[in-house]
Amino acid sequence: MRGRLAIDGGVCTIGRMTLEAEIAEAARLFDGAQLVAVASGAGISKESGVPTFRDAQEGLWARYDPQQLATPEAFRRNPDLVWSWYMYRADLVGAVEPNAGHYAVVELEELFPRVVVLTQNVDGLHIRAGSTDVVELHGSIRRFKCSANCRGDPTIIDLSAIEYTGETAPPCPYCGARVRPDVVWFGEALPPAALERAFEVASRCDVMLVVGTSGIVQPAASLPYRAKQSGAAIVEVNPQPGGITPIADVFLRGPSGRVLPRLVAALRARRRKQTR
Ligand code: APR
Repeated sequence: MRGRLAIDGGVCTIGRMTLEAEIAEAARLFDGAQLVAVASGAGISKESGVPTFRDAQEGLWARYDPQQLATPEAFRRNPDLVWSWYMYRADLVGAVEPNAGHYAVVELEELFPRVVVLTQNVDGLHIRAGSTDVVELHGSIRRFKCSANCRGDPTIIDLSAIEYTGETAPPCPYCGARVRPDVVWFGEALPPAALERAFEVASRCDVMLVVGTSGIVQPAASLPYRAKQSGAAIVEVNPQPGGITPIADVFLRGPSGRVLPRLVAALRARRRKQTR
């Protein structure tokens, strides 16, 4: 949130701007934008019912720390435990729908020549909502690959073509190594092509809308900094300040499912006024 210095009768007060006023200020930053980048994290999917990575895990998985499960070592040590956790999460994600925040991001494509979504999420909800240019930095929980990448990186495996259960990581049909989710685990490199495209977009965008990320995990957390260095305006949407807030030109404090539709409405109103 940004304060405004208000002087009334010689008394200086720092009054918080209303969210509406901050949204109007954010909308102004999009004027003339040709390339809009949307950098999203787990928070944008929270209102769809997908727990964020750093939320406490529910129920059965509460006793496990995700950062202990989402690693190559964990998979080597106990492939069936890791497989079961991802099957549970894939089922959870398959049962939920994109929320108003995802759909607001889709609407940006009607207002700007190019909109590219750079997401850390593996839930596929941006694509299901209808975003047409999505870079999945951390892969997808709905895609699977041979853990040995026996036919090139990645060797994608079509689960519908093999026998498998929710409890046991099945063998690769080509080489017998275990099948795993096509996601980036802690300690693993991001897909080079995705990473290169993300930094290229960050370097060239006019505005970067940063939504629902704690701004902790690298290299994704560096994207807004690259955008800022390249002259882009940074607008952040999050109920809490985090690692990106210090460089945000406007920080819209609130849940993205509520704030993003209001930002899009303000952008549409501004566009109508400008084309009168
Ligand atoms: N709307 C917007 N943001 C929200 C909402 C909401 N309704 N609810 C929570 N948030 C914010 C939290 O305040 C937090 O800043 O979403 C963010 C979630 O942070 P993390 O759980 O750290 O998720 P993320 O930033 O995406 O993590 C990055 O780290 O754990 C790894 O690979 C994993 O992709 C993940 C990456």
